[in-house]
Amino acid sequence: MTDIQHDRLLIIDFGSQVTQLIARRLRELNVYCEIHPFQSVTAGFLESFAPKAVIFSGGPASVVHLDAPRPPAAVFDLGVPILGICYGQQVMMDMLGGKVEGGKISGGGGTAEFGRAHVTPEDSLPLLDGWFADGREQVWMSHGDHVSQLAPGFQVYGTSPNAPFAITADTSRNFYAVQFHPEVHHTPKGAKLYENFVRLAGFKGDWTMGAYREEAIRKIREQVGDKRVICGLSGGVDSSVAAVLIHEAIGDQLTCVFVDHGLLRKGEADEVTAMFRDNYNIPLIAADESKLFLSELDGQSDPETKRKIIGKLFIDVFQKYANDIDGAEFLAQGTLYPDVIESVSFSGGPSVTIKSHHNVGGLPEKMGLRLVEPLRELFKDEVRALGRELGLPDSFIGRHPFPGPGLAIRCPGEITIAKLDILREADAVYIDQIRKHGLYDDIWQAFVAILPVRTVGVMGDGRTYDYACALRAVTSVDGMTADYFPFSHEFLAETATRIINEVPGINRVTYDITSKPPGTIEWE
Ligand code: XMP
Repeated sequence: MTDIQHDRLLIIDFGSQVTQLIARRLRELNVYCEIHPFQSVTAGFLESFAPKAVIFSGGPASVVHLDAPRPPAAVFDLGVPILGICYGQQVMMDMLGGKVEGGKISGGGGTAEFGRAHVTPEDSLPLLDGWFADGREQVWMSHGDHVSQLAPGFQVYGTSPNAPFAITADTSRNFYAVQFHPEVHHTPKGAKLYENFVRLAGFKGDWTMGAYREEAIRKIREQVGDKRVICGLSGGVDSSVAAVLIHEAIGDQLTCVFVDHGLLRKGEADEVTAMFRDNYNIPLIAADESKLFLSELDGQSDPETKRKIIGKLFIDVFQKYANDIDGAEFLAQGTLYPDVIESVSFSGGPSVTIKSHHNVGGLPEKMGLRLVEPLRELFKDEVRALGRELGLPDSFIGRHPFPGPGLAIRCPGEITIAKLDILREADAVYIDQIRKHGLYDDIWQAFVAILPVRTVGVMGDGRTYDYACALRAVTSVDGMTADYFPFSHEFLAETATRIINEVPGINRVTYDITSKPPGTIEWE
């Protein structure tokens, strides 16, 4: 658990798909919160966490079953406001003396309800300030079971056609329980409900990036003491922000290692090392290991084999450099909050692999290093905000994500130095075009893939037989799903012409208009 000094809100996770969104809504209100799975929330945990308010998430289980997940009864004796959502409402009613009826899914006869519904008010309630200006509010329902009898002390404040207990509360104890999901987009005024809840609970809304930065620095100093920390830089935002933050905390006790595997974009190694050397004076080992990576990849064309080779070499190389750093006891990683959530999820259990730091995966155990993960409480956009707070240049913070295996997964088939050089040049022209047209920040990720095919062309009066390439540009929120970016025909034509004119070795340009799914963003 963190030792953050702010008022904190505890979200007890019963396994809803959208629990993360509750945290998101609260952070937008500058409220510090943590999600903990119900299994780990014991009476002792509650005492040490000392939440100022508690939220019960939704979840797939049914309280009518004997083994239904429950919070410890002690949560109701904390004397703090509680908000139950969907399953959270049902478990609250069940434990406080009300009744829940099973829907068809859990073997009961009641009606389930999934999708949009409209709630109308029954009485006024401070939790609903700002609601019902038009007489009703749209909400998102997603439940099989439903409350059929309120617990003593509760009253109904809002109903929908299929949920007579859509909004309920025991105002004397500050317990609130709703059947719908206020955290999702389809409950348009949901954020207002959370705002009212944290106001009623007395949160000051003082969880800012500045405060986070100060506390994170204090925590890092406490954790690390006078020991040394190593940090693998990928050139991406997360590891860079982690490195700058840790450097601010412990100065030269931090050493960063940036491995150039020969699969970087044009100018990337120089850009990253200059950014760190010029702006931060952080001890940095720039390890040019391109020969090693490219020789091991020589002749390999299977995507998984290529990835495995790169993953293993990363660990070997990192370990080689780390061994030279005397007294290194900690490894810094830019693990983000969604990664942490994945690892403690209701269904996933603690063994889910965290994907963002595959570069040095397995290293902490091998080398007996302990982890420093100062971004564990943050979402991606919050990491960007922290990066700005730390003074990282906007141009760096806004960089498109770049995968650990680099250009290797943009070069289907065998990787050769000649192909990589062509790819680097084409990619540079493409990104230059995107920047010139002011589109860079509208796109999640854009890159060129060099295809393992050569085609016939005609340039001037001569025949060419050169590579084809594919341009890729997608919009996405988290990289899990993506849509292709709708460039204008003029943009595409101009870019294709520039690539063919400026990049020897390419005579055909295509644009990949596959969404994810069914495609993936990268080509391998
Ligand atoms: P895909 O191709 O899986 O990509 O749709 C989704 C996002 O993940 C990035 N990606 C990776 N990042 N190591 C990484 O660090 C990898 O092996 C890797 N594979 C894909 C990809 O760039 C996109 O942002």
